Order: sequence, then structure tokens, then C-alpha cells
Amino acid sequence: IVRMTDLDLAGKRVLIREDLNVPIDDGRITSEQRILAAIPTLKLALEKGAAVMVTSHLGRPKEGQWSQADSLAPVAARLSELLGIEVPLVKDWVDGVEVAPGQLVLLENCRMNVGEGKDDEALAKKYAALCDVFVMDAFGTAHRAQASTHGAIRYAKTAAGGPLLMAELDALAQALDNPARPLLAIVAGSKVSTKLELLSSLVSKVDQLIVGGGIANTFIAAMGHNVGKSLVENDLIDTAKKIMADAQARGADIPVPTDVVVAPAFAADAPATVKAVDAVGADDMILDIGPDTAARYAQMIAQAGTVVWNGPVGVFEFDAFGKGTEALARAIAASKAFSIAGGGDTLAAVDKYGIAGQVGYISTGGGAFLEFLEGKELPAVAVLKQRAG
Ligand code: 3PG
Repeated sequence: IVRMTDLDLAGKRVLIREDLNVPIDDGRITSEQRILAAIPTLKLALEKGAAVMVTSHLGRPKEGQWSQADSLAPVAARLSELLGIEVPLVKDWVDGVEVAPGQLVLLENCRMNVGEGKDDEALAKKYAALCDVFVMDAFGTAHRAQASTHGAIRYAKTAAGGPLLMAELDALAQALDNPARPLLAIVAGSKVSTKLELLSSLVSKVDQLIVGGGIANTFIAAMGHNVGKSLVENDLIDTAKKIMADAQARGADIPVPTDVVVAPAFAADAPATVKAVDAVGADDMILDIGPDTAARYAQMIAQAGTVVWNGPVGVFEFDAFGKGTEALARAIAASKAFSIAGGGDTLAAVDKYGIAGQVGYISTGGGAFLEFLEGKELPAVAVLKQRAG
């Protein structure tokens, strides 16, 4: 992949695709991790003397319509503050943008453009015509084949990978291609069904696979234990058994909790009780791993060479059921292993326990992070590679 860092951008018109799809509540940005992650790329383009245009999507607006709720206006304001220069938001931009070297403009939500979602060729060519160099830096959207992520790369005079995209790909390669062993993955969250491909793919790579949350309940049921009223996918119990058998055949370990935290209801104030995994009653809901299990997993993390973390192991939004996730977060922070964390809930846990500075790499990707871990080629990355020959 041609890297933006290697290009001379002085006096060039540079269009940078970022993923500035941040949560906005009532005009207020509630998590700005993606904006912060894009700043070094934008600063570098300005330092190199480019005339900088930045495009991103926000949410999933209807094409052909402008809507206040999906406007990037709050993001433009925040970029102005962070960059210390005025960042105008350009509303109609597909047919031409005025920008001079040393300036940076933010282009309104690209998903408002007709043809963006279906990777329309004519639209992609218009994007390409706006610039001398198109920079793909939106790792979080690299799994989407859309006009601003995939099409523009095809038609741009010069197409390059931005520093953020390249850092994400480099970190993922470090974790998966030739990892320091043991390679331990934590795959947690509510449902096996949404992470089935991930589990199936990782089980052939990792040395240890810790499952958590509702996913673990299905594995606990597969071991023949009663899970009471817990979230469980009965139709995937056989699949869980097969994943465990595959792991065993490779000599990989899928540890299952020996103790769990249960409650009679899914609520912040529900009374939490620690029980042995074989003592879960008919009215119990499993909402976290127990302290013995957390200590055992923390020990494994301490001895790992590489840790890949996706998903909280308990209902960490409720403090009474967050101790397992907190214990693993602290173990990752303390571990010498190269660690990589990604996914919305995971980043919320990283924030809640204040360990961002101690994680080796924090991915800005949600779906893109998962698809990469599943072993899929991201369309935007594939076309960057093609263009590089
Ligand atoms: C994300 O938040 O995962 C990315 O910005 C992609 O958004 P999308 O799922 O709407 O394509």
C-alpha cells in the first residue's frame, strides 16, 4: 500500500476519508476517540502543505436529503478546537470545493450523497476529480465498499493509506500474523450468533480463547451445566461443542468459568450472588464471571505474549456485575503482552476502568475490527493493495 507519509503533498489537493462517525447526543459529542485518532493525520497533511478536504459519514442518513441530526457540524466545531484553525463545513461539495494550501475543510456527511452506499461509479469519479491525492484513513469504515471508501480509491489519480489506517493494519498484523505466544483472545458479548465467524476463525489461530458474557453461557450449557434464566442460545449449543472440540484437537484451551455472579433479574440494583458454576439455580441469571474465574483468567493474561480483546465478560454497565470485566481490564493493563482492544462496548470498558494508556493498541473499528479478526479482506484495503500493484 502506498503510504501518505511517503508522499510529497506540498500544494496538492488532498481528500482524506476519515471515520468521524462519533456518537452525538443532542448536538453534543459523547465519545471523541475517533476524532482524536484522526488528528495526527490531518495535522500531517497540513504540515506537508496540502489543501485538505476531509470527508466522513455520520450515522445512516437517507441519501439525497440533508438532515440536522446527521450533520457533521458538531464535528467541524470540535476539529476547529483541536487543530486550532477554522474548519468550515462545506454542504454541497460533490461538484467542486474551494480550498487553498494550509487550509482544511470538512465536507458534509458523504452518506447524504446519492450513490454513496452502492459504491456508484459516477459519484466515485466525482470524488476522485476533487483531488490530486485521495487518502483512505477510515479504518472503521474499511469493511464497507462504498463510493468514498472503495470507489474513490479506484479512480483517484493517486490513492494512499493514511497513517491511522496503516497503524491499525500494522497493529492487527502484529497481533495475528506472527504473534508473540501464547496468543490469547477474549471474545465476549451477548450472543454467540453475532460472533460465530469470529469464534470459528480465532479458534484456529489462538492458544487460549476466553469466552464471556452471553456467549459463555452457551458454552457453559454445552458443558452440561444448568444456566437457569441466563441469556443462552440453545440452537447453538452444538456449535459451541464443536468449537470446543476443534480447540481441543489443536491443543488450544477454551477455559470455562468455575464460578459466576448471578442475580434474579437484569437490573443495576439486583442482588449479586457468587455461585459455583454447577450450582446455578432455575431462577438465576448469570451476569458476570466469579472472582475465582476472574483470577484464573487474569493469570492467563499475565502469562500471554499477545492479547486480543473484544467484548466485556459481564454486564459492566452495572457495577455489581462489572468486577470480572474490570479484573480482565486491569490484567491487560498490567500484562507485558502486546494487547489490542476493539469494539464499541470494549472501548467503553477501557474508558470506564481508565486503562487506555496501558493497552498496546486501541482500534477505532467496530465492524471493521471484527471482520479483520474473522480473517476477511476489507474492500478498501484490498483496492489500496491493487492500486499499489
Ligand atoms: C462503525 O461505526 O462501525 C463505522 O463507522 C461504520 O458504520 P456503518 O456500520 O454505519 O457502516
